[in-house]
Amino acid sequence: MGSLRNKRVLLGVTGGIAAYKSAELIRCLQGDGAQVRVVMTPAATEFITPLTLQALSGNPVSLELLDTAAEAAMGHIELARWADLILIAPASANFIARLCHGEGNDLLSTVCLASHSAIAVAPAMNKHMWENSATQKNLQQLREQAVHIFGPAAGYQACGDIGEGRMEDPAALSTMASALFSTGLLSGKKVVITAGPTREALDPVRYISNHSSGKMGYALARAATEAGANTVLISGPVQLEPPERIKIIAVESAADMLSATLEEVEGADIFIAAAAVADYRPASVAEQKIKKNDDDMYIQLVKNPDIVATVAALAERPLTVGFAAETENLEHYATQKLHKKNLDLVIANDVSDATIGFNSEDNRVLLVQPGTSKALPTMNKSLLATKLIEHIAALLSSSKLKTSQS
Ligand code: C5P
Repeated sequence: MGSLRNKRVLLGVTGGIAAYKSAELIRCLQGDGAQVRVVMTPAATEFITPLTLQALSGNPVSLELLDTAAEAAMGHIELARWADLILIAPASANFIARLCHGEGNDLLSTVCLASHSAIAVAPAMNKHMWENSATQKNLQQLREQAVHIFGPAAGYQACGDIGEGRMEDPAALSTMASALFSTGLLSGKKVVITAGPTREALDPVRYISNHSSGKMGYALARAATEAGANTVLISGPVQLEPPERIKIIAVESAADMLSATLEEVEGADIFIAAAAVADYRPASVAEQKIKKNDDDMYIQLVKNPDIVATVAALAERPLTVGFAAETENLEHYATQKLHKKNLDLVIANDVSDATIGFNSEDNRVLLVQPGTSKALPTMNKSLLATKLIEHIAALLSSSKLKTSQS
């Protein structure tokens, strides 16, 4: 089974009567999980209005290659990069010929030329145009260029003929598009991840924090999304590029992180606490900047709420995963944390080794679960994130199996 979850489909609409079905096709693609943007050829606008397709896709429709305003918003190269799939439906005989010959004389053909993503065409034309040897030769060449040909279907045609050349139904086209992408391990699952440090204010200009870079949590969010999850990343202040296709909630303090987490874990399948939450916060926050009047200064700290333990204690709780950063007795402390916080998995790492963990590109972890543990070798945080997501997805399906058997 394939899926369009988290995928971006650029729908190319060319001039043909079947263009009226593009409106429903947008709905089907979105229903299968895709984000959709539309490019229309000038002839397509004679059959259906850009406004209709704009309203349905929720994005501006791109029409002209040489339009400075449109190019400034999202130019042809950006559109080409944006798409995971370019689906041309309906694809007229004329557009198929132009695509086949590598022409770039309008926006849609230029985007196709500039793109490295998958391209699929859904031919829609009169049966004689379809049967014409020139059209068939062009299609054969497109197949050799690894362009996917969806359909056409046979039946009544707008011109009164009966035969091959009708555009495939929108629902069938969306299923064919989905089949180009394999279903991820977390397809349709909601994953909530905390990342980065928290900042605990002392006064309007000062705070207590730590050196967490957020890299591990961000890599996990990317890997979960890659696996098809609907990911929410609750992030403390970090110097990282916000990952695409992920809902990011920016927070500062542990209290903010807790309230965002409690809101988002409702209905979530997995919660991963990768944030380095400050254990304590100043008992009070001075309204004005604290002046250096005294030689000594004392700050009273109070304990912060434990976010991961709070989630693990919920009656309806997601599979809950925590991290343990330790400088000694790694397995022992991680096991203690697992039981004390009632977690399903603790990902433990030794922070006394400066080549791994905090702020570094690499990490080496020990996976601690009730009754078992497993060491993973040192690897780059992004590869590690993929391995961890695979492990967590397997844990989720085995826990679901246990619940349904009990
Ligand atoms: O107890 P310790 O802080 O070592 O536990 C680390 C784990 O607990 C991490 O997963 C961290 O994100 C989580 N944690 C939390 N809220 C806190 C402290 C830690 O969610 N206040």
